[in-house]
Amino acid sequence: MNESLAIVILAAGKGTRMGGKSAKVLVESFTGPLIHQVLSTALKLTPSRISVVVGFQGDRVQESVESWLKEKGDPCKVSFCTQKEQKGTGDAVRAALPSLENFTGEVLILCGDAPLIEVGSLQKLLKDHHEKKATVSVLSALLPEPGSYGRIIRDRETGTLTAITEAKDASPLELLNHEINSGVYVVDSAFLPGALSRLETDNAQGEYYLTDIVKRATAEGQTVTSVLCGSSEEVLGVNTYADLHLVNSILQKRIREDFALNGVHFIHPDSVVLHPETKIGSSVTIGPSTVIGKNVVIGNGVIIEGLSHITDTTIDEGAHIKWSCRIDQSTIGENAAVGPFAHIRPGSFLGKEVKVGNFVETKKATLHDGAKASHLTYLGDAEIGKDANIGAGTITCNYDGYSKFKTTIEDGVFIGSNTALVAPVTIKEGATIGAGSTITKDVSAAALALTRAEQREIAGWSKKKRQREQKKK
Ligand code: UD1
Ligand code: CA
Repeated sequence: MNESLAIVILAAGKGTRMGGKSAKVLVESFTGPLIHQVLSTALKLTPSRISVVVGFQGDRVQESVESWLKEKGDPCKVSFCTQKEQKGTGDAVRAALPSLENFTGEVLILCGDAPLIEVGSLQKLLKDHHEKKATVSVLSALLPEPGSYGRIIRDRETGTLTAITEAKDASPLELLNHEINSGVYVVDSAFLPGALSRLETDNAQGEYYLTDIVKRATAEGQTVTSVLCGSSEEVLGVNTYADLHLVNSILQKRIREDFALNGVHFIHPDSVVLHPETKIGSSVTIGPSTVIGKNVVIGNGVIIEGLSHITDTTIDEGAHIKWSCRIDQSTIGENAAVGPFAHIRPGSFLGKEVKVGNFVETKKATLHDGAKASHLTYLGDAEIGKDANIGAGTITCNYDGYSKFKTTIEDGVFIGSNTALVAPVTIKEGATIGAGSTITKDVSAAALALTRAEQREIAGWSKKKRQREQKKK
């Protein structure tokens, strides 16, 4: 743990430009709310504490962050500070001061709405701050279109950073400056409270600007430095849905590139959406329009053809997921084949070399090694033995309108097509069920059971019928 590092994350803003219904930092990117992304980068620096400044919908932001941290095993002490009114970024940091009492060291300030910042840039900024024994250090970036970002103002002779001017307060000449403030700072804890207490609101927005601490430090003769961010896209803040779309696509690109460098082959990378914590083995192929949500583990050599949505699932080595499958909260065994068009619902366990084909739906179903259900079947609350063969159109009738019941099909059973298995029912080892049966009672091992009415034949019936119809005309 880095005892002399504290992190403050500003997250009190409302997000007016995004409808203002939800706190901006809770706006979801595919990887979760924006603030989770910022926190996960912050945690990589192993700070001694993190303070999150909340305001608009603070309870919801706190709840969301706390439950996320719990999932991660509470890796760091995180406190929440309320900024009652959003009076500006300077006022927001002021709200965090009580949580920094008894702390001596460096305070890293991050924005909760800028999720692309990378740990490497933060480390570079901290290192420079240390080396130059600075009081305030600012992470800057060069943007071709600096827009509404604050502009970095430098001393003409020495080139040192002397002030940050918000776009709304900037002169036409200052607006031409392409070097902007990323909103990330490192500030000496001894300097911060005094500087914040002296902030004024004499600016275009009538707010307490955090950025004004640069001017104060310069005036006091303190060392102020800046470090240029590795890539300009890191500083992108989310203020509109258009920004969010861009941020999402950059996050996804980064995730895919990491996997691609580790040997994952994407057929059409731009159409694949992946949760960053997905675990993927080697020699895996992922086809177009695949969406992989949280808690997915993919073993070596797996092929996912595409158009599938997979969440909370483990797919073992060599399994083949054919086109258009929905798989949730399940396990797919080694060398199993699923789809095309299969729906694997929660609680499905498919063993080794199991085959589940088109238009098959499974739910709370265990299919032991080598079992097959190749077409048009519903297997719910069921256990299916090794090498059992489930014919097309087999339905486990697991629900009587009130309760759910279990169907047990033992090893090597053969279920003929279009069979209804009315649970609770057990088909013992090696039995065969004749096609078109409705099975309501247990079937003994190795027996044949069928409930089909016997087939009758009336000779010449069709021909006579045709003759009768013709006479009527
Ligand atoms: C701020 C900087 C600007 C910089 C830009 C980078 C100031 C005055 N300006 O501008 O120089 O280029 O970030 O993205 O700091 N927040 C609060 N309470 C408030 C106001 C804001 O918690 O009262 C939080 C917001 O939730 C957000 C962050 O602070 O996470 C930045 O606020 P925002 O209003 O987006 O600042 P910008 O105008 O983007
Ligand atoms: Ca912003």
